[in-house]
Amino acid sequence: MINYNHTVFVFLLLSLGIFKLGSCIENQSQNNNENQSQNNNVAVKCIKSEREALLKFKEGVIDFPGKLSSWVDEDCCQWNGVDCDSESGHVTKLNLSNPAGRHRHYEYDGNDDNYPIPSDHPALDAVKSCYYCRNADMSETYSRGSKVKASVKASFSGDVKTSVKASFSGDVNASLSGEISPYLGNLSSLTHTDLEGNYNLSTKNLNWVSSLSSLEYLYLGGVKINHTKADWLHAINMLPSLLELSLCSCQLEHLPSSLDFLNFTSLHVLDLSYNSFKTSIPQWLFNLTSLTKLDLTFSNQGGKILDSFGRLGSLKYLYLGGNHFYGSIPASIGNLSSLKELDLSYNEMNGTILESFGQLSKLVNLYLLENSWEGVITEVQLMNLKSLEEFMLTTNKSQSLVFNVTENWVPPFSLKSLHLESCLIGPKFPKWLQVQSELTYVILKNVEIKGTIPEEWFSMISSNLTHLDLSNNQIKGNLPHQLVFPNVTKLFLQSNLFSGPIPSNISDLMPSLQYLDLSENFLYGEIPLSILKIEHLNILVLRRNNLSGELPHHWSESQMSLLVVDISYNNICGKIPSSMGFLGNLSILVLSNNNLSGEIPSSLQNCSIVSMDFGGNRLSGNLPSWIHSNIFMLRLRSNLFSGIIPKKWCNLHKLHILDLAQNNLSGSIPDCFNNFTAMVDSNTLESNPIENYTEEAYIMTKGSYYKYDRTLQLVTCIDLSGNSLTGGIPIQITRLTRLGTLNLSMNHLIGSIPKNIGNMRWLETLDLSNNRLFGPIPGSMSSLTSLVHLNLSFNNLTGRIPSGNQLQTLIDATIYKGNPSLCGSPLPTKCPGDETFDGPSIAGVDDKHGGDDYERIWFYASIGLGFVVGFWSVCGTLLLKKSWRHCYFCFYDDIKDRIALLIALRVVHLKRKFGLEKN
Ligand SMILES: *[C@@H]1O[C@H](CO)[C@@H](O)[C@H](O)[C@H]1NC(C)=O
Ligand SMILES: *[C@@H]1O[C@H](CO)[C@@H](O)[C@H](O)[C@H]1NC(C)=O
Ligand SMILES: *[C@@H]1O[C@H](CO)[C@@H](O)[C@H](O)[C@H]1NC(C)=O
Ligand SMILES: *[C@@H]1O[C@H](CO)[C@@H](O)[C@H](O)[C@H]1NC(C)=O
Ligand SMILES: *[C@@H]1O[C@H](CO)[C@@H](O)[C@H](O)[C@H]1NC(C)=O
Ligand SMILES: *[C@@H]1O[C@H](CO)[C@@H](O)[C@H](O)[C@H]1NC(C)=O
Ligand SMILES: *[C@@H]1O[C@H](CO)[C@@H](O)[C@H](O)[C@H]1NC(C)=O
Repeated sequence: MINYNHTVFVFLLLSLGIFKLGSCIENQSQNNNENQSQNNNVAVKCIKSEREALLKFKEGVIDFPGKLSSWVDEDCCQWNGVDCDSESGHVTKLNLSNPAGRHRHYEYDGNDDNYPIPSDHPALDAVKSCYYCRNADMSETYSRGSKVKASVKASFSGDVKTSVKASFSGDVNASLSGEISPYLGNLSSLTHTDLEGNYNLSTKNLNWVSSLSSLEYLYLGGVKINHTKADWLHAINMLPSLLELSLCSCQLEHLPSSLDFLNFTSLHVLDLSYNSFKTSIPQWLFNLTSLTKLDLTFSNQGGKILDSFGRLGSLKYLYLGGNHFYGSIPASIGNLSSLKELDLSYNEMNGTILESFGQLSKLVNLYLLENSWEGVITEVQLMNLKSLEEFMLTTNKSQSLVFNVTENWVPPFSLKSLHLESCLIGPKFPKWLQVQSELTYVILKNVEIKGTIPEEWFSMISSNLTHLDLSNNQIKGNLPHQLVFPNVTKLFLQSNLFSGPIPSNISDLMPSLQYLDLSENFLYGEIPLSILKIEHLNILVLRRNNLSGELPHHWSESQMSLLVVDISYNNICGKIPSSMGFLGNLSILVLSNNNLSGEIPSSLQNCSIVSMDFGGNRLSGNLPSWIHSNIFMLRLRSNLFSGIIPKKWCNLHKLHILDLAQNNLSGSIPDCFNNFTAMVDSNTLESNPIENYTEEAYIMTKGSYYKYDRTLQLVTCIDLSGNSLTGGIPIQITRLTRLGTLNLSMNHLIGSIPKNIGNMRWLETLDLSNNRLFGPIPGSMSSLTSLVHLNLSFNNLTGRIPSGNQLQTLIDATIYKGNPSLCGSPLPTKCPGDETFDGPSIAGVDDKHGGDDYERIWFYASIGLGFVVGFWSVCGTLLLKKSWRHCYFCFYDDIKDRIALLIALRVVHLKRKFGLEKN
């Protein structure tokens, strides 16, 4: 059993559209239904020795879900999950599957935030073996629902405590635990054995299987098979009748390369997905010519071997996603004339898609996501794909794949889903798309479409469309003002050249919208009132346009579904309407960089705000004292706020970004900042509060603005600069050991720098310049080993500048300027009694790194210290950010060393090292 006391579950919920990564399952459930109906009318009694074998099995497992509670009566043929032959009384079927484990659909909605991560992904292996996380145990769980969600569960034990979204789907509870008894081998007439989805069940070996010579269906997906050697195959090879075999996610490592004789040549379905095999695909596998379905998703396979798959001429379903295959799609794939589904996503395919591909006339679903495709696709590759309905292709190398079909080509297929990303389709909107009338799901992202989209195309697809993403192109023109898109729930048009107003009747045109992103265009005019009438709108992003006028005034409780509103970087004026207080579920409100004035309405306390960014406006009045204790980011910089920093804020224990810079605040800094526990202990940091949405914010750190999005949850910052704060620096601030940026510059602070400032070991930026601080610079400053940006200029500090460690790398004398009584290196002023001495010349840390490096160091550092946040950032960021993923995979072997190094040295020079290693 798992030790729940110290167990952390990190769930990466993958919402998503259409991306199937194989399925253990589909056909099986049908079989099982048939089986049950056959055996209802029987009166045979079970065979005693078989009953005993079953009881032995029951003894060996922990039946937490109570699945075996009926296993007491004399007649074992009546037991749950057991079926017998009506004549002989032999047990023929054993079905104890855990249905919760039966969904293996990964969908992908085109949002970078939602990459699926399988449990035995090599990246997670690295985490598994890392210094503190070595007790990690990861497995997959699946949650049900209208939208199938896959989750990756990571459980850690030992020192690691939870912080990231901790939840439990409950489905794991439905799994039997314990050890499969070898006595099952006595059930010699078994034709079906289904234990799939019991993720807590294990078996020492499969020897018990070898005596089940009538077995046709064997499903053990999720059961841990403890085979240190390759002998599992020998057991399977004793089953000449086998038709379907699923060993997905069984923690197998060896795939035997040689087999003298292949017994199970009738095999139709073979699922070896989600096993991190250490050996490559053996040749005997290509002798299984009856296979109709082969699933090797995430099984750590690679090479060019792809050519051999052409020998499996009966294949209908071929899933090879998440491996290391490279090269081109070989011509032999054209031989698979029955192929209906092909998944080659998440590989390293760096070649072309050959012309023979065009022979796959039965192909319905084609998934070619996330590879480095090259070459040209012409109508030749597409000419005979008559059955194609879903076509997904994205490439990591931008524009390395070109679509070049003749202008008037009419495709033989009628697509329902199309996802093309980062290949070159434009500059004109392709004509062949204009005849695809059944599209419901369309992503044409970053495909260099320039100019306008024909209105006819929109009108043709408008009635069936549910998801439209045309972001990151150079599309011009107005948004369609007449067309009705009754079923569109997600509309992404960001980063284009759209202009004109937002349709004033948008709620009539798109009544089903849930997610609307029109950011980074040239839209102007007012925000139409109509937007408030879209009933189920969750996320509204209008950032960086030229919208003007006031915010709509009539927000009401009917928009309770709104979770995110981002209207930053526009020209909105007037006040923040107090009716926004009706938005009870509003969590993220970003109104920065507009012309808003007046006070923050107190009605906003009725919202559920966790992130408030009103920076860069002309808001005035006192700071809102009613801020909720759930807030993590409060950014009010560059406004006209006055008064004091409210004492009530002392309870904001989740706050990790507090930016009040450039206002008219007065009074002293409250002495309770040590209550901001999120800046003390990263265990309190949480993952993204809104699923599918990544907030973006500019944080001033290291003297510049850096844009943060995916790692915003890892940023810790207090910026109170440019106010009129008085009094001293409260020593409580030094307890914020997890604080990265502290900027108190340009105030009227007096007193000395707290002696134990050296405790703030994560501090990267410390700016106390332009105050009236006096006294010596505490020697403990030299233990701020993460410090890369320091400014103590223009105070009245005295005495010798401390040296050692990181301080020695900060050799720019201007950071101490304007303190006439300071002496010592790097100032030219020698301290009394000093000999002439040239300090060690250590090259300064290059301060030009982007936010990326900042993130990077957090990323490694936090793993090293065992923060689950670190884990989150591995899984989160790695899968999200393409460049990182690449980098990570190249280096993942030595990540252990890097972490060990970081822990050992705890020096920020690593930052530099990582910077250099960047590729
Ligand atoms: C797996 O098998 C090996 C050797 O056969 C044994 O040492 C190990 O304890 C087994 N592990 C489990 C979890 O049963
Ligand atoms: C093939 O299966 C039969 C029946 O179980 C068995 O007797 C035979 O040894 C198997 N052959 C090999 C090479 O394993
Ligand atoms: C696979 O097929 C080839 C010929 O097609 C044969 O030479 C080889 O022995 C077969 N391998 C096995 C394990 O059956
Ligand atoms: C594709 O990748 C493989 C392995 O990384 C490499 O050997 C090969 O040269 C690459 N081919 C192309 C065309 O880049
Ligand atoms: C596209 O095809 C045309 C005609 O076949 C050819 O002239 C042109 O060079 C091709 N463009 C690219 C980018 O391959
Ligand atoms: C919508 O899709 C259905 C099939 O899914 C199709 O029959 C119908 O023609 C489509 N509607 C339009 C307007 O094309
Ligand atoms: C689209 O919306 C119409 C009207 O609202 C509805 O009748 C139809 O079933 C929807 N179609 C799809 C594919 O959801």
